[in-house]
Amino acid sequence: RPIYVLNGPNLNLLGVRRPEVYGTTTLADIEEAVRARAAAGGREVEFHQSNHEGVLVDRIQEARTAGAAIIINPAAFTHYSIAIHDALEAAELPVVEVHLSNVHRREAFRHTSYVSRQADVVIAGAGAFGYEMAVEHLLRTLAG
Ligand code: DQA
Repeated sequence: RPIYVLNGPNLNLLGVRRPEVYGTTTLADIEEAVRARAAAGGREVEFHQSNHEGVLVDRIQEARTAGAAIIINPAAFTHYSIAIHDALEAAELPVVEVHLSNVHRREAFRHTSYVSRQADVVIAGAGAFGYEMAVEHLLRTLAG
């Protein structure tokens, strides 16, 4: 089982976008940390970012075909994408939802997640380290 790490809109701007909220770590830094941790556990990683909802749906379907596990930070799509919800539901894969910030401490529109219903684990507020926590969880729980 490979691990698909999927990132939604504007996460390509990590490090420069609102560092007081999202930190100074870049998405490339996160990718490196995730790859190192997954490799130590013998797992392959497919790491993607897209600003487009449909592209993320395509990646989730790809993960389904690959029988992967998914770590997803859907970014703003978290709060309104039924398409991503449905793709995850159809995939029937282990899913960890990650948010850098603690969305529950922020604006009310961030308190709803259409993804959490399809997630086994939800991590929010641990910053970039949340992705490593997600990998750690999968390494511990994935069989085969
Ligand atoms: C985010 C939180 C979302 O509300 C926001 O739209 C993002 C990033 C996070 O990682 O904290 O783009 O998913």
